[in-house]
Amino acid sequence: MINDPSTLADPSLQVMERAYEKWAPIYDALCGPFFLSGRRAAAAAARDVGGKILEIGVGTGLSFDDYDNTSEITGVDISEPMIAKARERAASGRYPFVKDLRVMDASALEFPDATFDCVVAQFVITLVENPEQVLSECARVLKPGGQIILINHLYSERGFVAAIERLTAKQARKLGLRPEFPFARLAAWAQGHGEAELIERRSVKPFFTLVRFRRAISHQVAA
Ligand SMILES: C[S@@+](CC[C@H](N)C(=O)[O-])C[C@H]1O[C@@H](n2cnc3c(N)ncnc32)[C@H](O)[C@@H]1O
Repeated sequence: MINDPSTLADPSLQVMERAYEKWAPIYDALCGPFFLSGRRAAAAAARDVGGKILEIGVGTGLSFDDYDNTSEITGVDISEPMIAKARERAASGRYPFVKDLRVMDASALEFPDATFDCVVAQFVITLVENPEQVLSECARVLKPGGQIILINHLYSERGFVAAIERLTAKQARKLGLRPEFPFARLAAWAQGHGEAELIERRSVKPFFTLVRFRRAISHQVAA
């Protein structure tokens, strides 16, 4: 089937860079309100973990309003224009807990192992070139017991909405969007990883899914 999600390749890094160069000037006005409930749910879950939080695909820093001095935020994004907006926002002085904002590919994080208490990806994991590699990088930079928190629209899988998602999938790629990414891929990554446990999957209105993984506290080394 032409529009079967499994037949579409993951979006390339270059396509995303080009798309978000265009999105940067209008992102806050168009996507700010649209993603608000999801962003807030993810940030609330991250605040419960607290400590050092890494946001991958931090974008223009819309999430800064959802954190406070109980955490320390580092943000990375592949798009220079998006992170430039995040830096402008941080320069307002309203977010002293935002410590570092860098252009960086989430599939090759330039942080040592076990640096963060929590890694958050708000509307990002479905857009990266290699989601499993990105998740493994997130797990690597997490301290044992730390959490990965994802919020996204995920593929509806059945019914009319799923059909629309399949039909629009190809065009959506060019806009830097991806409506047909299945939850099963996230679960399969955790199963295969060996040190990541799926601890939550829940709906967030209007049509988002929040997913949490915990990095194992310790793992058994085979004798
Ligand atoms: C839909 S926006 C979400 C931005 C922000 N998290 C929010 O909720 O407003 C997706 C972001 O992911 C970034 N992105 C895409 N691929 C990436 C990658 N491989 N590494 C880091 N950021 C990436 C894009 O540049 C863009 O800023």
